[in-house]
Amino acid sequence: MRKTIIAGNWKMHKNQAESKALITAVLEGVSQMKGETLPDIVLCPVFLSLPLAAETLKSLKEKHGEVLNTCYVGAQNMDYHESGAFTGEIAPGMLTDIGLTHVIIGHSERRQYFAETNASVNLKTRAALANKLVPIVCVGETLDEREAGLTDQVIRRQVASALEELDKDQVAKIVVAYEPVWAIGTGKNCESTEANRVCKMIRETINELYATNVADAIPVLYGGSVKPSTIVEQMEQSDIDGALVGGASLKAEDFLPIIKGGAGRSKLMGTRA
Ligand code: 13P
Repeated sequence: MRKTIIAGNWKMHKNQAESKALITAVLEGVSQMKGETLPDIVLCPVFLSLPLAAETLKSLKEKHGEVLNTCYVGAQNMDYHESGAFTGEIAPGMLTDIGLTHVIIGHSERRQYFAETNASVNLKTRAALANKLVPIVCVGETLDEREAGLTDQVIRRQVASALEELDKDQVAKIVVAYEPVWAIGTGKNCESTEANRVCKMIRETINELYATNVADAIPVLYGGSVKPSTIVEQMEQSDIDGALVGGASLKAEDFLPIIKGGAGRSKLMGTRA
């Protein structure tokens, strides 16, 4: 079975107290979901709230036990160097040092506002894997690219660049998130069937690159205005293995139904519904 993953990207929201309240509310809510096959749940607060989030997760795991076994804390970005004179940056080893397991790489907002490129996404993906972090590698086309009929070409290029120099065993450890830029924070959802088509194309692109079926085991998530009202249809698609959620991850009452929507939705590897 492929893993189902519901990840919350909090972006630049929530101070310490708000972060603590949100992570506690989400995890307490998850602890009530006993008996469900829960997805992996990854909460990604701002850097300054990461130690607090990691500690809160640890203490709630001690309180509730196994039911929170699939909950993780991740970062929204990192640098690819191990250390050095890179003012303002955070190294991969600093994330694992506080118990983090996941990191979002190449989010479109980083590509758009912080000069992230396909080349830096590749360096960060390799650095994440070298540090035993699961990279959630984001790809997605802009509205202009979609309207010019370039979606598939852009996505294929982003995927191929991100994976350069990764061997088959390394690529098997990544997660890909397809986030059409025009659907992020706009309330404009990409049709589930179209999102599924692109997620499937991502999987096929990886399989072609490696001349194997390695991608049949790689979770491909969808992101872009995911809400409690959209998740069920999205999770019914053959090649969507979860969601990377922005706005709707900022309130437990929105995020918990999305997590529930991902429960029991693991797909058989290689199945094509
Ligand atoms: P929204 O869910 O707010 O559209 O954001 C999606 C996103 O960018 C998650 O990384």
